Amino acid sequence: MTETERKRLHVITWGCQMNVYDSGRMADVLAPLGYGPAAEPDDADMVILNTCHIRDKAAEKVFSELGRLRKLKEARGGRMILAVAGCVAQAEGAEILVRAPYVDIVLGPQTYHRLPEMVARAARAGGAVIETDFPPEDKFDHLPESATPQGVTAFLTIQEGCDKFCSFCVVPYTRGAEQSRSAATILREARHLVSQGTREITLLGQNVNAWHGEGGHGEGWGLGRLLREMAEIPDLLRIRYATSHPRDMDDDLIAAHRDIPALMPFLHLPVQSGSDRVLSAMNRKHTADDFRRIVDKLRTARADLALSSDFIVGHPGETEADFEDTMRLVRDTGFALAYSFKYSQRPGTPAAGAPGQVTEADKDRRLQELQALLREQQAAFNAGCVGLELPVLFTGTGRHPGQIAGRSPFLQPVHLLGSASLIGTESLVRIVANHPNSLAGTLVQERRTA
Ligand code: SAH
Ligand code: SF4
Ligand code: F3S
Repeated sequence: MTETERKRLHVITWGCQMNVYDSGRMADVLAPLGYGPAAEPDDADMVILNTCHIRDKAAEKVFSELGRLRKLKEARGGRMILAVAGCVAQAEGAEILVRAPYVDIVLGPQTYHRLPEMVARAARAGGAVIETDFPPEDKFDHLPESATPQGVTAFLTIQEGCDKFCSFCVVPYTRGAEQSRSAATILREARHLVSQGTREITLLGQNVNAWHGEGGHGEGWGLGRLLREMAEIPDLLRIRYATSHPRDMDDDLIAAHRDIPALMPFLHLPVQSGSDRVLSAMNRKHTADDFRRIVDKLRTARADLALSSDFIVGHPGETEADFEDTMRLVRDTGFALAYSFKYSQRPGTPAAGAPGQVTEADKDRRLQELQALLREQQAAFNAGCVGLELPVLFTGTGRHPGQIAGRSPFLQPVHLLGSASLIGTESLVRIVANHPNSLAGTLVQERRTA
């Protein structure tokens, strides 16, 4: 390839881990066309805005960012391809081109394997290209192997979409129906990642534990079985999976937490609410006690398992008593980490038009109260780690000279003074201090596990 054919791509990623994964894969798809990475959008021949529609004024945020990118495009005399991808693109479709006619390509999360063709069409047509239909083919069958290594830790999407239709959520509409990738292609991608230096893989799915596949001889596999296969990959030190739904937490998956040392003892299991009334209105199809029972089983399987969760306050119909049930569930369970949100009305979802919308003031107050409790639990969990010896997988250098940084099994950032040659390996670390956003440690023993 000649120098003049080299082009630069900048991807802006909002939203969940799956969007992070998708952004990487979009870069992989465009690499054969000569696109390499651009650090800033100002330097780019193509900019992709990979969007999220989950909460708040998602569309407004997109249009304001597009306004900024329009100026960059104009400054380059129009020589910039501007693409909008992800869940807002899927939800808004042609509306984006009406409000931002300078956008060249609008594409949904299930069509990005066709990007090269879209780029060619955009160049030819002089008009905009839009691809937001759910295609009959599976994009994973058309993606190249990842060209650029993801690093010591990597994401791997194994399942996409959702059939659960929680009352508040846009995902079933933006990502489409639940679909599982085949075990063979997942294991191939995992081995490829490890060959590029990855030591920890997080399996991703909107409902990752709804994953199902086929092993040899037509045998049906669930996520627990897939994890057992993953654990056989040499040099893969750590495995995680996210995000799980309580309804799909089957016994084999719980047993995998007991049996597989590489499976990290940290689980993100969103519960949303502790009130059965609200859970039913949310169409979650589990009760607060179902969640408690699952947590008990998990902790029996793996005593050191730490939990993380998502909560929504102010879902339509939520009363003070319902909110108190949520506080009680949090107190009963004890979370190492949690994300909590004010209910946000999403266009086209059942809850958006439901009676009993909660006032902004009530949502604010409940959120503050819940977050204070969750912060307290997180602080207690982190403080409880001081004095322990924990394995840390080093992922890069720290902020200060001579420092290296990594993650504990519980995803806590840990830093210490140590040689950069340890990056990509796991070592035992004594935790000596608990800082606001990280733990400090000292090296106990270089394990050099990989
Ligand atoms: N698939 C995952 C989560 C998907 S979205 C699951 O089933 O739990 C991530 C989180 O965003 C959700 O867990 C929920 O807590 C939050 N969320 C989704 N829609 C929301 C809305 N309309 N308002 C506020 N929070 C929302
Ligand atoms: Fe959304 Fe519910 Fe599906 Fe999770 S399970 S993606 S919250 S509809
Ligand atoms: Fe957002 Fe779509 Fe992920 S709405 S949270 S980017 S699935």
